[in-house]
Amino acid sequence: MSDWVMLSAEKSRDAVRRLGASLDPGGRLLVARDADDLRSMVASAEAGELGVIVGPVEDGVSDINLAAAVAKDGNARVVVLAGERTSGSLRSRAARAGVDLVVDLAELGEGPGAGDEPPLCDGGRTAGAAVPPQGPPTDARGGATPAPEATPVGVVDAPVLVFCSGRGGVGKTSLAAVSACVAARWGMRTCLVDLDLSCGNAYAALGLPGGSDLAALSSPEGVTPELVGRLCRAAAQGVSLAGPCERPETAELAMPHVRALLDLLSREYDLVVVDTSTTFTDAVAQAAQRADRLVLVTDGRTPSVASLARMGGLAVRLGVARTRIVRVENRADPRERASHALARAEVGLEAARAYRVVEGGREVVELLAAGRACELAEPGLAFTDSLSAALAQMLAELGRLPEGEEPRRASEGTAPRGLRSLFGQRREAR
Ligand SMILES: Nc1ncnc2c1ncn2[C@@H]1O[C@H](COP(=O)(O)OP(=O)(O)OP(=O)(O)O)[C@@H](O)[C@H]1O
Ligand SMILES: [Mg+2]
Repeated sequence: MSDWVMLSAEKSRDAVRRLGASLDPGGRLLVARDADDLRSMVASAEAGELGVIVGPVEDGVSDINLAAAVAKDGNARVVVLAGERTSGSLRSRAARAGVDLVVDLAELGEGPGAGDEPPLCDGGRTAGAAVPPQGPPTDARGGATPAPEATPVGVVDAPVLVFCSGRGGVGKTSLAAVSACVAARWGMRTCLVDLDLSCGNAYAALGLPGGSDLAALSSPEGVTPELVGRLCRAAAQGVSLAGPCERPETAELAMPHVRALLDLLSREYDLVVVDTSTTFTDAVAQAAQRADRLVLVTDGRTPSVASLARMGGLAVRLGVARTRIVRVENRADPRERASHALARAEVGLEAARAYRVVEGGREVVELLAAGRACELAEPGLAFTDSLSAALAQMLAELGRLPEGEEPRRASEGTAPRGLRSLFGQRREAR
């Protein structure tokens, strides 16, 4: 359960209350008297203790300015702006000002069922959203069912999945690149962002000779849709790539603009997948804070509880809600039982979902080295199916699983296994 404080004009108060209930069904919602009262309540609370919902306000400061001020004060866990007929430019302004979520109250509806808690999508950034702690929930027949956090209503920001690790060489780039290809195969326009700004090589997994230069984000024109459009390079059908930096020494130029870049991309694409560096740079921190799912990758062959604990702890201190953190044990031996239940407890990530991606062997290494990540997106390989299952379940939790047989089967873990042999695939690919 978490605490929220709201401010709204009398006439919209009920709608804002319903919004609060849908954002955090178990949360407690306090009502501020006025803008000053709201800001002082947030300022006097512990950092990250209060979530804020600013509804339409009638006098004094405008609602967007108030939400921006609260976001700038920096003490709120999450800042939500609830408006009436919110325009695209208002959403852009709000995103630039650090407001986490803009919701159109008109789109929540006043029709039948409006008195219930309406489903609401926040792009997965709901603090304290009720996410079951472990394993997919089951339906009445005992089958796995996706557990959407919300259904898209009026908010269209694409989910942002950020792959991180406290150690090098565990498979961040491989999993991010193949996930982007799998999502594209499911019909999602996907952008893979390489935030390993100095040494990134995501372009190589996608078979490109190079990436795009994110140092350009520091250009005087600012982070505009046009600039970001130029920085997105077509890599494969449905997959674009942005980043890293052309020259390692210019990485710092890009860093301050990462949040703005991700915000823009999440409005342009259906899914944003972020690869990061092993070092927790400012760029990685911004991505972690912006992540709808922060995916902590470990190498299942040599799991390191220490590096997982370091990353998990750092993410939580940065304000990433534990419910947004998931763990992927990569290169797992499918014949061995998962070891992550224990590690989760040791590193304080009990609530984090854990997935396994199985060891794909020499052929997966070779296909990735040859820039053929998208060939690994086709179901039928244990590596691909385990990765697709993790991706599908993350998207399902966020209410963003695309329709279609493949994503559905992936989310249920019922992809036809073992039908495709790597050797057969290699022959086909030649
Ligand atoms: N599940 C897997 N099965 C087989 N090989 C894998 C798997 N995951 C990753 N690899 C291989 O492991 C190596 C390291 O992977 P990758 O470059 O993706 O790691 P990384 O975490 O991005 O490394 P860095 O920290 O250097 O950026 C690569 O050769 C890749 O092909
Ligand atoms: Mg890498």
